[in-house]
Amino acid sequence: MRAIISSYVAIEAHQITLLLFFFSLCLLHSINIVEATVHHLKWEIKYEYRSPDCFKKLGITINGLSPGPTITATQGDTLVVQITNSLITENTAIHWHGIRQRGTPWSDGSQGITQCPIQPGETFIYRFVVDRAGTYIYHAHYGMQRSAGLHGLIRVLVPEGTKEPYSYDEDRSIILNDWWHKSTMEQSTGLLSLNFGWVGEPQSLLINGRGRYNCSLAGTSDVCNMTNPECSPSVLTMVSGKTYLFRIASVTSLSALNLEIEGHNMTIVESDSHYVNPVTVKNLNIYSGETYSVIVKANQDPSRNYWIALNVVSRKPATPTGTAILNYYPNHPLNPPPTSPPLGPLWNDTLYRFNQSKSIKSHPNYIETPPRTSDRLILLLNTQNKINGYTRWSVNNVSFIFPTTPYLIAIKDKLRQVFSQTPAPDTYDYKNYDIYSVSENPNAMLGDSIHRLEFNSTVDIILQNANTLSNNTSETHPWHLHGHDFWVLGYGLGKFDPRFDLKSYNLVDPIQKNTVAVYPYGWTALRLRSDNPGVWAFHCHLEAHFFIGMGIVLEEGVEKLGKLPKAIMGCGQSKSLGGS
Ligand code: C2O
Ligand code: CU
Repeated sequence: MRAIISSYVAIEAHQITLLLFFFSLCLLHSINIVEATVHHLKWEIKYEYRSPDCFKKLGITINGLSPGPTITATQGDTLVVQITNSLITENTAIHWHGIRQRGTPWSDGSQGITQCPIQPGETFIYRFVVDRAGTYIYHAHYGMQRSAGLHGLIRVLVPEGTKEPYSYDEDRSIILNDWWHKSTMEQSTGLLSLNFGWVGEPQSLLINGRGRYNCSLAGTSDVCNMTNPECSPSVLTMVSGKTYLFRIASVTSLSALNLEIEGHNMTIVESDSHYVNPVTVKNLNIYSGETYSVIVKANQDPSRNYWIALNVVSRKPATPTGTAILNYYPNHPLNPPPTSPPLGPLWNDTLYRFNQSKSIKSHPNYIETPPRTSDRLILLLNTQNKINGYTRWSVNNVSFIFPTTPYLIAIKDKLRQVFSQTPAPDTYDYKNYDIYSVSENPNAMLGDSIHRLEFNSTVDIILQNANTLSNNTSETHPWHLHGHDFWVLGYGLGKFDPRFDLKSYNLVDPIQKNTVAVYPYGWTALRLRSDNPGVWAFHCHLEAHFFIGMGIVLEEGVEKLGKLPKAIMGCGQSKSLGGS
């Protein structure tokens, strides 16, 4: 009897602590609600004629803007973005690049993976928390719409009372892009044709949505007008003696870029929203999908303006240098500098770019050490090849195609017939494969198989680059992972061999990123924790490469998720589940 009573009392005491615990949780929660702001944004997406480089063509705008509006929020805030698709004949979806979407994998915006596309006339609401300060990108994740101008920036500020490991007077934003006069529809049609039509080099480079095409090359047409105010150069103004943080993001479809500010050094302090051990450079190499913050001091002769110059690297340039004006107040903002714009490093100096990447390490005070060992090694060979006569990119001989039902829904609701249940290959024949020879990869095939990761495990991924279908050619591919920041454990040139190269990993102070370059004939080694329930795209961020198969899909912990929102359903096998 006594035992029963005491255990009864014990339960009660336990219940009281539980109650107290929940009470304090609620308290914490309500405090959070008081502090964090919910930002409600309403966007309309449509086609409009634009002349960002003086040449008039159809582009996609958000509320009339391309690049779209810059979002500014504070760490911990919630963004609620209501998107209305007014494209009339095209679906869409918007990805919040770099935001991990913890607890909201259905808001990732990767059509075919985490949601059905937003159909013309429909409205869809993304809701997610920006849980880490830094600079992010948003962009279309449907077909090649990002190339049509559907992209923009997100600035996430540190919470009040928190200090960044650097100081500055003001920040400035720079979004970089490459631009074609051919419509993205024509480009994508070419890429999917048996008679392969490559997109070619861009006509212009855009800085904050502005570039300059030499209209005399446009022939007699009236579509190009160099006095159009839409293509007057973008201007960044500084006051002599002050210090600036430049937030730089690249959303290019193809080009690897080098950014140089004439006469001014840049100190790299942050990349992909992680603080970097400061590195001072004359110019910055930036790949599509990457963001960098650099410190720039207005410490040069203030009586003139300077060039901000953008040059193509990694591919043989056929695009003129992109320029913006760095204006010293109170000079006239459009006064052209008396010099010619810097031309950047040699386009094919791979080692220069490779070494700059390698020099970027975590800030010593912000190191989150990676796990010492990993549970799984995924070795991914990137090849260009022909499949049934079509030119494709493949990863371990599988060229990615989307299923008609998004993976997230298919896995959660156990619709097994929706995509191949055979696991995507974790490796290739690394002992025998010659990365330096043109390989036809006769066994390559189209596929929608995925890599399912054990939840809460540590996974290493090695991206291996090889020769393309042309002799002596290997490109730089910026790979981007959704839902995660990974550690960059190493970069190498040549073929990765797990028997030796594992030993060269940097486990001391590796930078964390969400997008990383894989150099020509080289490899890049990543480590990640599969701790974010969802289905996540991992792909080359070059629009044309992903469009013809250069990507894979990772899944982890989907069974841990609650009921999926109905709004993401309605396509493929999820038709009956839909109805938003
Ligand atoms: Cu910024 Cu899946 O891409
Ligand atoms: Cu690529």
